[in-house]
Amino acid sequence: MSSSTAATVLMVNLDNGVSESLAREMKWRRIESLERSISPVAQSLIRFSYGEILYATHNFSEGRVLGRVALSCVFRGRVGILRTAVAIKRLDKEDKESSKAFCRELMIASSLHSPNVVPLVGFCIHPEEGFFLVYKYVSGGSLERHLHGRKKGVKGCSPLPWSVRYKVAIGIAEAVAYLHNGTERCVAHRDIKPSNILLSSKKIPKLCDFGLATWTSAPSVPFLCKTVKGTFGYLAPEYFQHGKVSDKTDVYAFGVVLLELIIGRKPIETKRPPGEENLVLWAKPFLQKGKGAIEELLDPQLKCSLRFSNQIGRLIEAAAACVSNEESRRPGINEIIAILKGEEEPVYSKTKKTSFLGMDV
Ligand SMILES: Nc1ncnc2c1ncn2[C@@H]1O[C@H](COP(=O)(O)OP(=O)(O)O)[C@@H](O)[C@H]1O
Ligand SMILES: [Mg+2]
Repeated sequence: MSSSTAATVLMVNLDNGVSESLAREMKWRRIESLERSISPVAQSLIRFSYGEILYATHNFSEGRVLGRVALSCVFRGRVGILRTAVAIKRLDKEDKESSKAFCRELMIASSLHSPNVVPLVGFCIHPEEGFFLVYKYVSGGSLERHLHGRKKGVKGCSPLPWSVRYKVAIGIAEAVAYLHNGTERCVAHRDIKPSNILLSSKKIPKLCDFGLATWTSAPSVPFLCKTVKGTFGYLAPEYFQHGKVSDKTDVYAFGVVLLELIIGRKPIETKRPPGEENLVLWAKPFLQKGKGAIEELLDPQLKCSLRFSNQIGRLIEAAAACVSNEESRRPGINEIIAILKGEEEPVYSKTKKTSFLGMDV
């Protein structure tokens, strides 16, 4: 080996050594800062070791995967002496933003305590393996699977009955009302959709996935964000076009979920005939007829549910109000709950119904 080659090798090694130790130092600093940020709530959660996470998920076995998207993967597992069932969300360790995403989801999810929100039980931070959030396991599957995952017409695959759909509508509306008005700070979920709604064994709906959730200063006080995150088909026009986030962003997305419950179709179905691909656009002309639109709108698998026509009519009316294009005309979630429960004549239907429906639907 010539001396120049040896010198080159030495230089490369030295350089690697410096950048590696710098990277390690940076990583520790990030973790220290993360620990400081979560310290106000860390005591109220269980801190799991990485060994416990590995044991719980059988080394992240494929058979335990509950859901996988770009930057996270959720595994089913059991923890503790009682072998409590949990869902463990692993954030992508290569993602530079994962510590921030972990911190935000942990801080928000740990502040929420409602029968219709999936509780966060603990977490794990490992310098090499990354960040893990441990939620209570909800055993009945996601609304996405119940509504859209079955093969229609196959024996043994009965459609989600109307009574459960109505219960989901009320339960998730109450979860959203809790996020917006029931805690110290208003939380906008920003990703309300059927795959983020889970059903318990007793068919109680629970909202999950606080990965995009954010605090806003108060309900109806919007702020502008630079990057629009969420799911196509559920994005309110003012959010999609201008990045404007508020509680009304969730009200719009909730309205799309209501349409899915009523009609039994996904918000975007590209294989449908022209004019029918976009559920909101297709449904809007019918929505203004309220109960009178049951014939056109109701999921064909639910025709035997016509005895619930009052409830179905109220869901149609609530969906119409939620998917209003104009944010200022879209009611807050408490008004939507009143419509869903048929508790009172909503303010807008007494005073502004004509213009609300006429201009906007
Ligand atoms: N607590 C839970 N109990 C049961 N299944 C869950 C739970 N949390 C998530 N899942 C399943 O994993 C999927 C993805 O979880 P989610 O929290 O939405 O993460 P992501 O950010 O990957 O969308 C959900 O659609 C659901 O099927
Ligand atoms: Mg999700």
